[in-house]
Amino acid sequence: MGEPASLTTPRLFLSLPGSDDVDAIFDACQDPLIQRYTTVPSPYTREDAESFVGLVAEWWESGTEHVWAMRAGDDLVGVVGLHRIKDGAAELGYWTAPSGRGQGYTTEAARAAVNFAFGPMRLERLEWHAVVGNHASARVAQKLGFQLEGVRRKGLDDGGQRADGWIAGLLSTDPRTEVSWGL
Ligand SMILES: CC(C)(COP(=O)(O)OP(=O)(O)OC[C@H]1O[C@@H](n2cnc3c(N)ncnc32)[C@H](O)[C@@H]1OP(=O)(O)O)[C@@H](O)C(=O)NCCC(=O)NCCS
Repeated sequence: MGEPASLTTPRLFLSLPGSDDVDAIFDACQDPLIQRYTTVPSPYTREDAESFVGLVAEWWESGTEHVWAMRAGDDLVGVVGLHRIKDGAAELGYWTAPSGRGQGYTTEAARAAVNFAFGPMRLERLEWHAVVGNHASARVAQKLGFQLEGVRRKGLDDGGQRADGWIAGLLSTDPRTEVSWGL
């Protein structure tokens, strides 16, 4: 329950996505990997981007999801969120536009979201889910200190079909330093 919180990292500003971001979100979500590996609709329309920015404000208000736009200067480079916030736990999710990848932006933004979850929000556990084989997402989770907890057989949708899913967790008491899952 509350007002959207803005977060600052060394290179990024994280704040509520708004109507000025619709074009950038629409463009980024044309990316096949974002459509495949996240829960965004596929195909992704401009109306999807418009309804998303409206919903995000409601989610902040109700306290069910906290979603931030990752901004590098004037550019929206991605979106990071804490989803399914309930009973002291939440799920970390992120996507970054293809042009913004490989620069550590996702790790930097997600680290700020993690610190917010375990700091002001006082959560005790964060979960991360990804389709088995989504190594870029797994690298980000490892850099944040998430521990691999297993594989959920056919646990996720992978572009329209069921696929095995990795699950990893980070507790508020865990070190937030890079780990290796030996994948
Ligand atoms: C996952 C994603 C957000 C990572 O974005 P990013 O900005 O490139 O992330 P970062 O730069 O912070 O870190 C990426 C790490 O993954 C590594 N990486 C990138 N692509 C990779 C690949 N195909 N295989 C293995 N590692 C990969 C990078 O080398 C980097 O690790 P390093 O710093 O140790 O070299 C981005 O690829 C994306 O949006 N993918 C589609 C949506 C998605 O999968 N979201 C997560 C759903 S669970």
